[in-house]
Amino acid sequence: MTVVDLPTAIRTTDTQTADLTVIGGAGHVGIPLVLSFAAKGLTVNVNDLNLDSLSALKSGRLPFIEHGAEKLLEAALRENRLIFTSKPSEISNSGPVIVTIGTPVDEFLNPERHVIQHCIDVLLPYLKNNQLLVLRSTLYPGTTDWINEYLKRRDRNLKVAFCPERIVQGYGIEELARMPQIVSGTTPEAAEEASSLFRTIAPEIVTLDPIEAEFAKLFGNAYRYIEFAVTNQFYLIAKSAGLDYQRILKAMKYNYPRAKNIPKPGYSAGPCLMKDTMQLTAFARNEFTLGNAAMLVNEGLPLHIVADLRRRYDLSKITVGLLGMAFKSEIDDVRSSLSYKFKKVLNGYAHAVLTTDPFVTADPDLLPLDEVVGRSDVLILCTPHNSYRFADLKGKPVVDVWGMLENANLIC
Ligand SMILES: NC(=O)c1ccc[n+]([C@@H]2O[C@H](COP(=O)([O-])OP(=O)(O)OC[C@H]3O[C@@H](n4cnc5c(N)ncnc54)[C@H](O)[C@@H]3O)[C@@H](O)[C@H]2O)c1
Repeated sequence: MTVVDLPTAIRTTDTQTADLTVIGGAGHVGIPLVLSFAAKGLTVNVNDLNLDSLSALKSGRLPFIEHGAEKLLEAALRENRLIFTSKPSEISNSGPVIVTIGTPVDEFLNPERHVIQHCIDVLLPYLKNNQLLVLRSTLYPGTTDWINEYLKRRDRNLKVAFCPERIVQGYGIEELARMPQIVSGTTPEAAEEASSLFRTIAPEIVTLDPIEAEFAKLFGNAYRYIEFAVTNQFYLIAKSAGLDYQRILKAMKYNYPRAKNIPKPGYSAGPCLMKDTMQLTAFARNEFTLGNAAMLVNEGLPLHIVADLRRRYDLSKITVGLLGMAFKSEIDDVRSSLSYKFKKVLNGYAHAVLTTDPFVTADPDLLPLDEVVGRSDVLILCTPHNSYRFADLKGKPVVDVWGMLENANLIC
């Protein structure tokens, strides 16, 4: 980890007075958590390496879309409940420390436990014995117990807990207040202390052992990923039979409770679902066949669409417009978005690929919707942002896997 100095304009010095510290507090998991605790009257040390995000928060701006967060941020700043720090040495030495850094997967789709290990290593000199250390982000099974043992081997006696984040990105504030919190501790004291911390913001606590809690989080995300794959596969089967899957799905779901949870087809992506499915695959020695199949289907859907377009058009003469670059609707997050897979693949075939998104600000190539629609020969609805529902697509042929555009010139 690179240790950076926070400019004095952002730094807040009285770190010892915080009720708790959130490492990665300016990230997607961190911000809703920080603001939820602050809304309950706690003072939070927001510790993060990202200086831009910290200074945005300090000036009352959110670094990304988080629905319902603006009001809470304004109140937290007004009431002086946020302390901004960027160095491990600036964490509060009393009160719990919550770590939102997880285990990403590497190029072999295997978990990289050293990321969380490294994060703990640099915090260690500043953590006090008996302090509660809460691991918050998705972890490879066994990581919490492993960290606990790792700390003991260094003669450190912290109360280690794992309390997984299960929010839907962009809607964390609302979900944290509504959903039960799974809590697990490596000792009864750690579990009890973590439970009383999360009782402040969650309506209910459900306790598990750490490895059970790790699996609960991974199973939840993998299940969702597989659900999307099932409906995406049905979509492709129906399409290959020349049928309208949306029409079949609507009839299947109509007043039929056992089918009511089948999701619509769509591009299933983002920083968590595939990564977490791959962690389970790695744990199962690559024998999580449903998970592997889900990855092939979900990641393959854009490839099917491109193949379909190549059968219909000589793409070398065609400009393709991509509508929506965020990985899901109504947010600005492009991490692991399949829109960029479309862009990459189509760049190999098409005359030009134009992109637009009403929320994304991090991509300098984006153009206004009207320009993309006007200049494109064919459009792909990549992200089902609500504003596209009634957009004037000028009768251009459009691919809408989501089944969202009712009056458009749909080609599949
Ligand atoms: N985004 C979600 O909705 C969501 C939901 C559940 C679980 N998760 C999991 O939570 C983890 C974090 O995801 P995220 O979406 O919040 O990522 P993110 O990139 O938005 O946030 C991580 C933050 O941590 C900061 N950071 C990284 N290393 C640090 C360190 N050593 N010290 C201090 N700050 C550090 C980064 O600057 C960043 O602001 C991932 O493992 C993810 O799978 C995410």
